[in-house]
Amino acid sequence: MSKLDDDIKKMFLPSLKDARLRKNRNVETIFYKVEDIYKNLGVGKTYYIYTYGCQGNEADSEVMAGILESVGYTKASDPLESDIVLLNTCAVRENAEQRIWGVLGQLKGRKRTHPDMLIGICGCMPQEERATNKLIESYGFVDLVFGTHNRFNLPKLIHQAYLSGSKVVEVFSNEGNILENAPMVRESNFKAWVHIMYGCDEFCTYCIVPYTRGRERSRRKEDILAEVNDLVKRGYKEITLLGQNVNAYGKDIDDGSYTFGDLLTDIDKTGILRVRFTSPHPRDMDEKAIQAMKLKSVMPHLHFPVQSGNDRVLKIMNRKYTREEYLYKVKRLKEEVPNISITTDIIVGFPGETYEEFKDTVTLSVEAGFEGAFTFIYSPREGTPAASMPDPISIEEKHKWFDELKETIDLGYLKGNQRFLGEIVEVLVEGESKSGDGMLCGYTPNNKLTHFKSDDLSLVGNIVKVKITDAKSWFMIGDLVE
Ligand code: SAH
Ligand code: SF4
Ligand code: F3S
Repeated sequence: MSKLDDDIKKMFLPSLKDARLRKNRNVETIFYKVEDIYKNLGVGKTYYIYTYGCQGNEADSEVMAGILESVGYTKASDPLESDIVLLNTCAVRENAEQRIWGVLGQLKGRKRTHPDMLIGICGCMPQEERATNKLIESYGFVDLVFGTHNRFNLPKLIHQAYLSGSKVVEVFSNEGNILENAPMVRESNFKAWVHIMYGCDEFCTYCIVPYTRGRERSRRKEDILAEVNDLVKRGYKEITLLGQNVNAYGKDIDDGSYTFGDLLTDIDKTGILRVRFTSPHPRDMDEKAIQAMKLKSVMPHLHFPVQSGNDRVLKIMNRKYTREEYLYKVKRLKEEVPNISITTDIIVGFPGETYEEFKDTVTLSVEAGFEGAFTFIYSPREGTPAASMPDPISIEEKHKWFDELKETIDLGYLKGNQRFLGEIVEVLVEGESKSGDGMLCGYTPNNKLTHFKSDDLSLVGNIVKVKITDAKSWFMIGDLVE
């Protein structure tokens, strides 16, 4: 820290130790308001936001875009030509961070020829002490560093950067209040993210998220329902409810009796056509939530992160469920929603995991009938308990296990698509297929990417019927049914 100048020392720096604390702080709901002095901050200027990481970050970027536009900024078509560039970052694995250092390398050259361009780093990376220290010490051309809890202060931080001409750093380690009514520029006009809660109290031993996102805070149901009602009124077809453990929804409000299942039931009544959510925690997926999967608007797809199929590994991961309990919930889900598709997240090569234990994850994947998975090789995160556990298996060996698991998972993708061959499915049309060829594409209720022949762009944002004629591992192909 020796190189830190006095100005920066006085600023708010992150502390992983403080971020871990879960004291009974009262979380209040307050309403966002831009102070008058910042109202014209961005008039005549442009912005660009790069977003990395999870859907939570995508939703946060939409809020930051809203805040920037509310003070006069307009979106730049070319990021390198914009007056302010923000990198909304992810810290969940080492390679997520490596990408950011790479992009920063490119921006450095641009800053040399365009010294007036402001460069800001925000999101989960600045919440880590190590990353923020590195940004301060080695990335002099970065103007703004702010954390996940500081995004609502964006106009103030930009103002300070313009005024001071030196680096502005503000990273609170504790989360603060819930802010409602912040402006938002949504990427899509038919699909929307809706945060139902923020933070995570689970502390899985490998995971940095509880440190970067703070304690679990649920939004009030009336605020969520007002947002969904507004989306319905504006013609949105699909919403995805966001939270690190959506099943913990409501536990921190009043007596905790209004839970995630109740929220889904109320959301269903708004008339929204499609509801998805991510992610549920298997331990908290209760019978009420399982029953709610049967609601008309709730889509028959559940992303249900298991992480491992071995009880000892699950225990040292602090996941708080067993293989048997997980498989029992999968069975209950399939009994209630026979058509359901289940996908998952898996970590390969957790510290101390043996090959036999890893094989339990492969057999569980077959037993659960996963139709897809995000698979990750374990990546140590400084400050988490797993980072100091003995980890004797070489990375080369872990890659071999990873490839072995991938074979099973890829087969699951294929089987999941093949079961729709010959069926008529509803597709929410997203746009033109990447391959061109006069095809459009979109997603089915089971979240299967589907391509079909049509050049009618007026279908984008609508739900159409498609008869499936071919099923590959990563997509299905079909014909539009008139
Ligand atoms: N809250 C979600 C997941 C958030 S992080 C949940 O609990 O399901 C998304 C995924 O990243 C996790 O499910 C896990 O599979 C993976 N992940 C998290 N930390 C990791 C680490 N240190 N190394 C490798 N993968 C990790
Ligand atoms: Fe991380 Fe576990 Fe929280 Fe998910 S539930 S964000 S994996 S600590
Ligand atoms: Fe990454 Fe932060 Fe999301 S670490 S996965 S952007 S909560």
